[in-house]
Amino acid sequence: MGKLLSRHAILWVVCLSLCGCTKFGIEQRQYNKNFYKEVVATSESVVEIMEENYNGEELKKIALTFDDGPVDVDGGTAYLLDGLFERNVRATFFVTGSRVAQNPDLTRRMYEEGHMIGNHSYNHVNLTLVSEENMRKEIDDTNKIIKSLTGKELAYMRPPYGAWNSRVESYTDMIPVMWTLDTRDWESRDTQNIVQKVVTNVKENDIILLHDGYKSSADAAFIIIDKLLEEGYTFVTVDELLLN
Ligand code: NI
Repeated sequence: MGKLLSRHAILWVVCLSLCGCTKFGIEQRQYNKNFYKEVVATSESVVEIMEENYNGEELKKIALTFDDGPVDVDGGTAYLLDGLFERNVRATFFVTGSRVAQNPDLTRRMYEEGHMIGNHSYNHVNLTLVSEENMRKEIDDTNKIIKSLTGKELAYMRPPYGAWNSRVESYTDMIPVMWTLDTRDWESRDTQNIVQKVVTNVKENDIILLHDGYKSSADAAFIIIDKLLEEGYTFVTVDELLLN
């Protein structure tokens, strides 16, 4: 099942980035349809009309993802977690094992405050270029250290540089999660630039790529959240986006 899911996850993310019609969208409509069939609807045509109306009112889901942390600097992960907490918003953190080892308290805090944690390798390596043994170690050591801190097995991974191949796929059951909107926040380090990239391009079911080492990214995330909440978006973790 793991293998099947992971292939689907890649396909979904590719599909998400290419078009608005997603596998989740279809599943969501089928779910709503069943809901109306059971609860209120009397005929297929009524179901269809209500379905459309219902979807129109649905909150549009998006996921903010932060890579490469946790980082203990001014304006780093703690600052970001404070702002997310104030706004009651959950995000997804793809952490590296080496930074988790340096910042166990920040890692526990991510978990305790309801954020999703994913694996981003131990040393931020390209998993397709290292030896088989190192590839395994990069994945497993990261899972191990996070489990030791949170008690939780990780299911999702964002491979550094988005580098994923059949060798990695055949070793792990983890679900690779890429992104649909790249802010290149590490490059610009410019809050307004990051905000503009997101608010002018964002669409339902986007997975937005940011990094939690920069105050400019955290400040941008806060502005993005405040603005998109007003526009009817809701912020969910990656697992909620992929599986609901
Ligand atoms: Ni990274």
